[in-house]
Amino acid sequence: MIGKLNHVAIAVPDVEAAAALYRDMLGAKVSGATPVPDHGVTTVFVELPNTKIELLEPLGADSPIAKFLEKNPSGGMHHICYEVEDIHAARDHLLAKGARALGDGEPKIGAHGKPVLFLHPKDFCGTLVELEEV
Ligand code: CO
Repeated sequence: MIGKLNHVAIAVPDVEAAAALYRDMLGAKVSGATPVPDHGVTTVFVELPNTKIELLEPLGADSPIAKFLEKNPSGGMHHICYEVEDIHAARDHLLAKGARALGDGEPKIGAHGKPVLFLHPKDFCGTLVELEEV
């Protein structure tokens, strides 16, 4: 059901510093920092030949990644995003198998303008999983 790895997201306390690290130290192609107020994050995308790394800095007081950074002050892997062709079909299949979706279980428009759904980390080897319809 799942397709390509779309991105790995890393929460960071300072997205400009993280972008510089990926650009200058690792020699990667890095986008500019983009505030996404609807999702409470500022994002930078690192483009790799086979996938992307999404660097996330909290934006605003109620950022969904604020708690994660409190526990991991220097940053850490936050979620992994797999592509699916039909997000509703994927959701229905997973819920029928006993997995839990976060929120109300309805796909939302994600940071890239496409429908996404997050799955409970306890059901997926301790990893927060994002599904994105492509
Ligand atoms: Co993501």
